[in-house]
Amino acid sequence: MNRFYPLTVAAVRRETRDAVAVTLDVPDEFKDKFRFVQGQYLTFRTRIDGEEVRRSYSICAAVQDPALRVGIKKVEGGLFSTWANEQLQPGQILEAMPPMGNFHVPLDPDNRKHYVAFAGGSGITPILGVLKTTLLSEPQSAFTLFYGNQASSGIMFREELEDLKNQYLGRFTLIHILDREQQDIDLFNGMLTKDKCAQLFRHWLDIKTVDTAFICGPQVMMIQVSEALQEHGLDKRQIKFELFTTGAAPKRAHRAQDAIRTKGRNNCEVTVILDGRARSFQLEKNTDTLLDAALKEGIELPYACKGGVCSTCRTMLVEGEVDMNANFALEDYEIARGHILACQSYPVTDKIVVDFDQ
Ligand SMILES: Cc1cc2nc3c(=O)[nH]c(=O)nc-3n(C[C@H](O)[C@H](O)[C@H](O)COP(=O)(O)OP(=O)(O)OC[C@H]3O[C@@H](n4cnc5c(N)ncnc54)[C@H](O)[C@@H]3O)c2cc1C
Ligand code: FES
Repeated sequence: MNRFYPLTVAAVRRETRDAVAVTLDVPDEFKDKFRFVQGQYLTFRTRIDGEEVRRSYSICAAVQDPALRVGIKKVEGGLFSTWANEQLQPGQILEAMPPMGNFHVPLDPDNRKHYVAFAGGSGITPILGVLKTTLLSEPQSAFTLFYGNQASSGIMFREELEDLKNQYLGRFTLIHILDREQQDIDLFNGMLTKDKCAQLFRHWLDIKTVDTAFICGPQVMMIQVSEALQEHGLDKRQIKFELFTTGAAPKRAHRAQDAIRTKGRNNCEVTVILDGRARSFQLEKNTDTLLDAALKEGIELPYACKGGVCSTCRTMLVEGEVDMNANFALEDYEIARGHILACQSYPVTDKIVVDFDQ
């Protein structure tokens, strides 16, 4: 599960001044491993200036599309996104882990549902995959997309969205919310804040008609949209989130002031089950995360962000207790089932067993 596979870059298309769409060829022998569900992401691994870099990017293709595609927006000073925007070329090999993620709901051709999505900037990428797949898979369902950007020049996949609007007239409603460019309808000017959502729900979208809402964009926007949706009657379980970054630097080590409550001895015996194999090691409590400790032991666990955001390091805690520093990735039902994020977990008990195969 933690393996990387070599994919060939088939095309790099400039979407906006600071974003590219990268199409990837999957060799026949790995095709099964790279089948995906709409809204999932790929984790890439490459070396930039001698340093191993891992980053996740959402698949912006429909499951019915012939090729795998991601959209990468350049982040100011960002290592991978700058490299991808400035140096990635067709023919190059990108190592990728098979698709992961839960930013989707089950689809059924008999459904007659109304989905709504709120995207901010590069947050359009998983939503585009969800949107296209849903329109293709559920011929009686409708989709409304509110897409926030500063100006029209920065809108990723602009033409593709317009084409979809024309193709699915009556089923797909596209509303651009622009912050730094005046549009004719004043309601659509500004940012996707809680107030703006309240206005949209009053004048444009009847929340009672909505079955599921998808949100992906800057964290502040996601929180405000989610609060507005819930205040207007949507249940939290009807809202799907995909967070790209918290803006906080990943914690590399546990600091003394973060010390967690522990039980029993100072050391914990950790057993990691991965690819059917169990390996054990000792970990001093309040030092390394489970992920860092296992990596030091030479156990190649899957990971990307190390910040509790991407869920690539998700594992099942089958014995013992851990403390999690942060969790922006796991949903309540996953935690209830016993899932934890290895990159955020510190042992509490003297023995823990985690199973990456579950
Ligand atoms: C599940 C998942 C899916 C993702 N999908 C996409 C996608 O489809 N398209 C896409 O462009 N990105 C996506 N991301 C974000 C992506 O993984 C990287 O975090 C992003 O490209 C920055 O990486 P970097 O190496 O360029 O910057 P880094 O070198 O990691 O970071 C540089 C600085 O920028 C900050 N930063 C990181 N990301 C952002 C951001 N998005 N906005 C503002 N500041 C930021 C960091 O905190 C840091 O201070 C996704 C992330 C996750 C977890
Ligand atoms: S590596 Fe991203 S959540 Fe742990």
